[in-house]
Amino acid sequence: MSRETIRKIFLYGAGGHAKVILELLELNGQHCAGIYDEHGASTDLFGYPISGSLNGEYKEANSAMIIAVGNNLVRKKLAGKLSAKWATIIHPSANISSRSTIGSGTVVMAGVSINSGVKAGDHVIINTNCSVDHDCVLADYVHISPNVALAGNVQVGEGTHVGIGTAVIQGIKIGKWATIGAGSVIIRDVPDYAVVVGNPGRILRMNEPDGAPEDK
Ligand SMILES: CC(C)(COP(=O)(O)OP(=O)(O)OC[C@H]1O[C@@H](n2cnc3c(N)ncnc32)[C@H](O)[C@@H]1OP(=O)(O)O)[C@@H](O)C(=O)NCCC(=O)NCCS
Repeated sequence: MSRETIRKIFLYGAGGHAKVILELLELNGQHCAGIYDEHGASTDLFGYPISGSLNGEYKEANSAMIIAVGNNLVRKKLAGKLSAKWATIIHPSANISSRSTIGSGTVVMAGVSINSGVKAGDHVIINTNCSVDHDCVLADYVHISPNVALAGNVQVGEGTHVGIGTAVIQGIKIGKWATIGAGSVIIRDVPDYAVVVGNPGRILRMNEPDGAPEDK
């Protein structure tokens, strides 16, 4: 993010993921200036009003937006559509090495540990209590679910969803737009678009080339 002081943060999306991000903003003392949701029926989230249509407020000086949508492909499409300055939001309990980099639009949840030399791209979700060890590379639009453990030097390709509680051994390369099922143990490289489940992880099927379907 630039050195400009961000005073107003807007959320795009008002579902479950937005609830978590909203609380994170409150904890950080950051101001949620508005929530956009073009598809939802609710008019407010925890008392914050939801606007059904985008106005230009989020593009004003000192404002930034975060896409509060869990689906990786939807996040990518929205990032391409909305011309915004992106916020990076980090829970105060996250432990992040000063030798690691976290991209814009990325959210790091409570209890996360990120060790030295990690590169996390843009619009990534690094979810509650996961552990990302030294020199891992997370491409844009990745979602690392709660309680995932990535050993050192793991690479995760664009748009890939690593399911809750997965363990990945050191040096593994997981391709783009893949889905790793909940509780998997990944001991071999995973090709692009593969849906992998189990211990050891085996390919169940392939995702469509234009991205993973709705996260399950
Ligand atoms: C991998 C996943 C996407 C597959 O979903 P799906 O395509 O609907 O698959 P199905 O439920 O039809 O299951 C197909 C087969 O795979 C098995 N399977 C599915 N998920 C599995 C998993 N995580 N581990 C082991 N086996 C799994 C099923 O038992 C079934 O086997 P069967 O054909 O022998 O009965 C889903 O099960 C999953 O694990 N999603 C991750 C959810 C998650 O981590 N959410 C966190 C959000 S923060």
